[in-house]
Amino acid sequence: MIAVSEFKPGLEGVPATLSSISCVDGQQGILEYRGIRIEELAEKSSFLEVAYLLIWGKLPIKEELDSFKHEIQSHRRIKYRIRDMMKCFPETGHPMDALQTSAAALGLFYARRALDDPQYIRKAAVRLLAKIPTMVAAFQMMRKGNDPIQPRDDLDYSANFLYMLNEREPDPLAARIFDVCLTLHAEHTINASTFSAMVTASTLTDPYAVVASAVGTLAGPLHGGANEEVLVMLEEIGSVGNVRPYLDQLIANKAKIMGFGHRVYKVKDPRATVLQQLAEQLFEKFGRDEYYEIALELETAVEERLGHKGIYPNVDFYSGLVYRKLGIPEDLFTPVFAIARVAGWLAHWKEQLGKNRIFRPTQIYTGSHEEPYIPIERRAVSLERVRVDSLEQHLERNGK
Ligand code: ACO
Repeated sequence: MIAVSEFKPGLEGVPATLSSISCVDGQQGILEYRGIRIEELAEKSSFLEVAYLLIWGKLPIKEELDSFKHEIQSHRRIKYRIRDMMKCFPETGHPMDALQTSAAALGLFYARRALDDPQYIRKAAVRLLAKIPTMVAAFQMMRKGNDPIQPRDDLDYSANFLYMLNEREPDPLAARIFDVCLTLHAEHTINASTFSAMVTASTLTDPYAVVASAVGTLAGPLHGGANEEVLVMLEEIGSVGNVRPYLDQLIANKAKIMGFGHRVYKVKDPRATVLQQLAEQLFEKFGRDEYYEIALELETAVEERLGHKGIYPNVDFYSGLVYRKLGIPEDLFTPVFAIARVAGWLAHWKEQLGKNRIFRPTQIYTGSHEEPYIPIERRAVSLERVRVDSLEQHLERNGK
């Protein structure tokens, strides 16, 4: 028998794998991909080089990077049947649901091959990295009633995505900043969506199912969905003067402040620091965002009130402000996160396949045993039913 005291809610601190992909030091605020600090990658690398580093475990030489970029470029288009399927999605549906469905649908079109075939692994990784941005942009165009914009071969990965989204070539600074955002979001050890990807991968299903399950997990407001909620919160606060009363109310109601707190970081998330610098570069070139002052004041106030608990800004706090300045609609913030995180999910998929054992944790059963089967006519009426019945009787008595 396993003692209840051994149970860790949310598996906090329980190692789920041996991994050499990324490393977080939550006390010092350090994040490394394959041993390289995130700040250095943000400054010197590009998202596709980082994706290569994560998936294949080393920085590519020039020829390797060139041919990887070329392969991605030649797989950006999506089949017209996928486009037609996406046209049937309701325009009111959330883009994360559209992305999850479209990512899973790729499995219908690309036959499964042996998972120990390096060519298949590479092709699947290239397809997912190449097509996911196209699918996100296509849904955005189609829900506005327009035809999707075809990818442009003369634009690099990030510039092409912004082009497909806004139907115009982006400013080079905007494209570079977006590329850095992708690098910052590409990987982050065993978080909920990566764990979901690993569990799915461990069944030896196809990589499209792996990514689709991870996209579904990322969609929740406690994970990738938080960056959307941050802007809603900043809008609700409305003015710098309202920051502290608003925060007091959240704390009194024991509500979570979106964009703050992290299971691992007990200091400011290093990605939030880089994102804040990027936001400032964007504001300098394209004009300030009225909500930035509110965000700064909120960071100071949260630090004063909750810093002792290790509650500081996480990656989602400043990313929304950056994305909005780049012209990305709020409900695409999480799909944009997914575009980046595909690199990390694929790295974990590949690592999992290299030493696979299907995930099968255990549980501590808290229910009863040897219960009798009670015939339906002798079952007690539940309390909820009594409440509903008396409400119905009350409404009847009052002629409603
Ligand atoms: N606002 C206020 N208090 C918080 C916050 C927050 N955002 N986050 C944690 N706390 C408090 C909790 O109330 C709790 O206090 P208590 O010990 O007095 O009860 C303590 O800090 C520990 O909180 P937990 O919820 O146990 O921390 P956990 O590690 O489970 O949660 C999580 C981490 C889910 C990210 C949480 O901080 C949260 O909900 N944050 C808001 C949502 C968010 O920004 N998510 C994005 C995370 S980054 C990412 O996924 C990419």
